[in-house]
Amino acid sequence: MLKKVSPVDLTDSFEKVPVKIYPDLTTGSIAVAREIADLIREKQKRKLTCVLGLATGSTPKTLYAELVRIHKEEKLSFKNVVTFNLDEYYPIDNDALQSYNRFMRSHLFDHIDINPKNINIPNGEIKKEDIKSHCIQYEKRIADAGGIDLQILGIGNNGHIGFNEPGSSVHSKTRLITLDNSTRIANAYEFANISQVPRLAITMGIGTIMKSKKIILMAWGPGKAPVIKKSIEEDHTEQVPASLLQIHDDVKFVVDEAAAAELTRYKSPWLTGDCEWTPKMMKKAVVNMALKLKKPVLSLTNSDYNEYGLSDLLVEKGDAYQINLQVYYMLRDSITG
Ligand code: PGA
Repeated sequence: MLKKVSPVDLTDSFEKVPVKIYPDLTTGSIAVAREIADLIREKQKRKLTCVLGLATGSTPKTLYAELVRIHKEEKLSFKNVVTFNLDEYYPIDNDALQSYNRFMRSHLFDHIDINPKNINIPNGEIKKEDIKSHCIQYEKRIADAGGIDLQILGIGNNGHIGFNEPGSSVHSKTRLITLDNSTRIANAYEFANISQVPRLAITMGIGTIMKSKKIILMAWGPGKAPVIKKSIEEDHTEQVPASLLQIHDDVKFVVDEAAAAELTRYKSPWLTGDCEWTPKMMKKAVVNMALKLKKPVLSLTNSDYNEYGLSDLLVEKGDAYQINLQVYYMLRDSITG
């Protein structure tokens, strides 16, 4: 569902979507697994099916391991669960090592009590001429199931969600797409070499994903930090598909500290208007400014501080001359033999 954007939402914070940051991928994955388990149980109580949109790749592996644990140790049943996977390579045998059909069986479906009839994954085995009707059927099955209650997403380094590569329309539906070269390179580790990575894939569209009632995008590790910043803080654009999630009304990014490292609240917290000026923070801000302006620390002026967004620091600590000296001494004292 798309949200109505009010200008106030966008000026309150650098972050244009809700973000939850966990110390590491394990705690983040456990929290998301708990949310899924709660949703399944809540639907069970009301005798309803729970429709989950699922992702593959390295990102959700720990989440699935935790769901399997909850099934085994806490007796969570998946009997009322219907699943739709985001994507699959094309062409690929369902049993191939790299197939997302196989991935889902080995990481989740073989270990829980889901009814196999309730599992939906795009089929990489069908004939090319049947793909179009397969995609139409996939959309229809999602609609017939009542829509996706909760969609889980990873994110590619180029911002893709599912296999919706940059440039995918916000209205796109399930379809055959050509994989970006960057995606083929990123996924080459799953294959013997890059030439074996399929050039095509079937993916749910961005429009399909956007119709989900709730969306959680997960990202772990420093490699994802730049694209996480772009998706969360910059204007939404079809060039960074994950940034389009900003216009969904119930979405959350769940990331670890490493993937959050480029967000302004970490990288330049003084710009968020909510920063405690410890010596360490002062040093970080002043050194960043000096590097950006390509000036020696001792040459920074009051107007440099104001223009770089550090007027708060000026007010709190006196003038630029005093702060420059203090930071200079800190830098000098950190030099060792
Ligand atoms: P990853 O891939 O989980 O292997 O990082 C995510 C994606 O490409 O969507």
